[in-house]
Amino acid sequence: MRNSIKPENSELVRLIGQAQRTVVFTGAGMSTESGIPDFRSPGGVWSRMKPIYFQEFVEDKDKRREAWNRAFSGVAGWVGAAPNAGHWAIARLVARGKVAAVITQNVDNLHQDSGVPPELLIELHGNASYATCLDCGLRHELAILKQSFLGAGEIPVCRDCGGLVKVATVSFGQPMPQAVMKQAETATLACDLFLVLGSSLVVYPAAGFPIMAKRNGAKLVIVNREPTDLDDLADLVLNGEIGPVMTALAPPN
Ligand code: APR
Ligand code: ZN
Repeated sequence: MRNSIKPENSELVRLIGQAQRTVVFTGAGMSTESGIPDFRSPGGVWSRMKPIYFQEFVEDKDKRREAWNRAFSGVAGWVGAAPNAGHWAIARLVARGKVAAVITQNVDNLHQDSGVPPELLIELHGNASYATCLDCGLRHELAILKQSFLGAGEIPVCRDCGGLVKVATVSFGQPMPQAVMKQAETATLACDLFLVLGSSLVVYPAAGFPIMAKRNGAKLVIVNREPTDLDDLADLVLNGEIGPVMTALAPPN
């Protein structure tokens, strides 16, 4: 049965229909319907564990061990989940040429897994499905690192240069990847509709992109379960579940 468009969502249908270049901007609320907890809802990740800051990871061996314990135990839930209806709907909009770029704060790889082409995906906070050397950048697969960590308790170091290896996410206090930030800025300034899905919009510089889009003349739409910090700036705010809203907007053929 075709998903009926509720009257309050018809404005979203109109905006996306008239837009020439839509950018979708996603946060952790995109993945809760895949079973991945977000960060700031009740019971979210930061209510169960404190973030490990980048400096702590680099300087404190115990913190580094804790970070790897979290990564290999999957306690944050960032790896191993499957895309949900909202991810598939975005992938359909991308395939139909309606979305020019997906900027995500998420590290769970679910936009890739749902078919968004890597060249249209901008991962502001990196990706939790692999690791990289902090010195030479060499990629390391988690499965291999996990064996030596769980076996001999070895904290991963680079197999090439001996440098520190870290899951490829951007931690608090870690410099943002400049090339990725530039890519996100270019996409933001080129869009005429900026669609935020599932973010509380409290973390900068990521939350600066909806502001940049709005200041540059784009329409700003926020779909989120709760009110966000930027609702007053938005042309349209829909407080609801992303999966159903996006499936109604981009139903399967
Ligand atoms: N549908 C709609 N909204 C949802 C859903 C859902 N199924 N599930 C959760 N939400 C909303 C929550 O109400 C919340 O406002 O998504 C928002 C998620 O906000 P946060 O948990 O703050 O996540 P996010 O905005 O992505 O955090 C940004 O903070 O800790 C850092 O690096 C981390 O990328 C993350 C950044
Ligand atoms: Zn190295």
